[in-house]
Amino acid sequence: MGIISNLRGSRTQAEGLPSSTSVSNKKKWSSLMPLVVALVVIAEIAFLGRLDMAKNAAFFDSWPEMFYKSQSSGGVEVAGVEKFGIEALGGDQNLVKESCEEWLEREDGVVYSRDFGKDPIWVSGGEQEWKTCSVSCTFGFDSSKKPDAAFGLPHQSGVASVLRSMESASYYSENNIAQAQRRGYDIVMTTSLSSDVPVGYFSWAEYDIMAPVMPKTEKALAAAFISNCGARNFRLEALVGLENANIKIDSYGGCHRNRDGRVDKVEALRRYKFSLAFENSNEEDYVTEKFFQSLVAGTVPVVIGAPNIEDFAPSPGSVLHIKELEDVQSVAKRMKYLAENPDAYNQSLRWKYEGPSDSFKALVDMAVVHSSCRLCIHLATVIQEKEERSSDFKKRPCKCSRGSETVYHLYVRERGRFEMDSIFLRSGNLTLGALEAAVLMKFKSVEHVPIWKQERPKSIRGGDELKVYRIYPVGLTQRQALYTFKFEGDADLRSHIENNPCAKFEVIFV
Ligand SMILES: *[C@@H]1O[C@H](CO)[C@@H](O)[C@H](O)[C@H]1NC(C)=O
Ligand SMILES: *[C@@H]1O[C@H](CO)[C@@H](O)[C@H](O)[C@H]1NC(C)=O
Repeated sequence: MGIISNLRGSRTQAEGLPSSTSVSNKKKWSSLMPLVVALVVIAEIAFLGRLDMAKNAAFFDSWPEMFYKSQSSGGVEVAGVEKFGIEALGGDQNLVKESCEEWLEREDGVVYSRDFGKDPIWVSGGEQEWKTCSVSCTFGFDSSKKPDAAFGLPHQSGVASVLRSMESASYYSENNIAQAQRRGYDIVMTTSLSSDVPVGYFSWAEYDIMAPVMPKTEKALAAAFISNCGARNFRLEALVGLENANIKIDSYGGCHRNRDGRVDKVEALRRYKFSLAFENSNEEDYVTEKFFQSLVAGTVPVVIGAPNIEDFAPSPGSVLHIKELEDVQSVAKRMKYLAENPDAYNQSLRWKYEGPSDSFKALVDMAVVHSSCRLCIHLATVIQEKEERSSDFKKRPCKCSRGSETVYHLYVRERGRFEMDSIFLRSGNLTLGALEAAVLMKFKSVEHVPIWKQERPKSIRGGDELKVYRIYPVGLTQRQALYTFKFEGDADLRSHIENNPCAKFEVIFV
């Protein structure tokens, strides 16, 4: 008889609602008790009758709406009324839970004014380079239409200006994010993971990263393909330093050439234990084909370049890093040690047999979505976020309280996709564990296939299970998402959700 006892409990609460309720009022209630019980029984019968019809959703469409309307009409007693109503129906906890969520889905489901399906994102000045994108998007030139964004310096108000470059900011200072922003660029696309839409050198399609390791048949320990000895770092000094430390280097590039350079670079690299992947500048996230080709070739990269090259390593201990000139001696020593100890050397290439780390996959999977498509998703997201600050969206409840518990409405999408899905968290379990569980449940329920599934080499696609790598608020840079952002425990997540109604998250699966 859960319904009756709940009703009784609620009645008592309802009775107590107006704090000024007089004793005589209470007496009146008690004298009406038999009638109330009779009404309750009738209500219960009616309720159970309606339960049978619950499958046709009309029932759910009506009652929570009623409570929402009473809620939005304002007033101190609203919470009590809502509590009364929901508890009155509270015989079946699951039913109530589901209904609260359905109600939130509908009440929060304010329609955005722009339908990208009919009115695609329009970017002027670029080429259409991708096959599919999860938001409709058009690139090209069309002078009759005002674009959402255009490549090049800002020239039209209301049009986002986009800087896209894969060159390092040490050579092209205009690619420095802060400098680009000062010059008026709205969106920066560079190799920096801190830029709005990073453009990296890597793609699964371009680099056969899991290609097998070949026997190391060359006498020289390392191969170098450095076209130009001049650079804004110490790479020439390091090359000389290694040679002076008796590391034999075959040089195919213009710099210190001692081998005929007319070879297939990756094929040549396969036969060497080490490859000198010396970039022309030491800049965070600036990691070019020199590094990725070494990985394809199954040779251990000796890196001068990005100070955070470990972020790009396929597994810990798989690259040697010359951070500064002083490191040349110790790196030379390490190279000799590895060259003389086949097991230790093989250990550096273990990822070739066992697959790269989750952190590597999470980083490079970003590129399965073309940067132009990621630009469109970024633009569409910003357009929607702007609209979310309008009054229509501010009216969304984003949560549903019943009794002492609140159900929070959140949104989540996979990185690389545009559309959001709803998930719900309850105030009694507003934890990081519950967030991950809710995300997994959501994506499993729709048999979600990770966006990288078809792109990764077969041997590292994994099975059908979904594994969460990161969940982070939409709008963070990839540097934050992958490396620096972390909810500091459940309390931090709770305050984020409480302070961001209908909070939106992005998830990376590995
Ligand atoms: C390197 O290790 C893998 C397993 O981790 C093994 O299959 C392979 O034969 C080893 N290669 C050499 C040259 O020892
Ligand atoms: C909170 O959520 C976690 C993860 O879904 C679950 O294992 C746990 O049972 C939940 N706790 C409560 C009190 O609901």
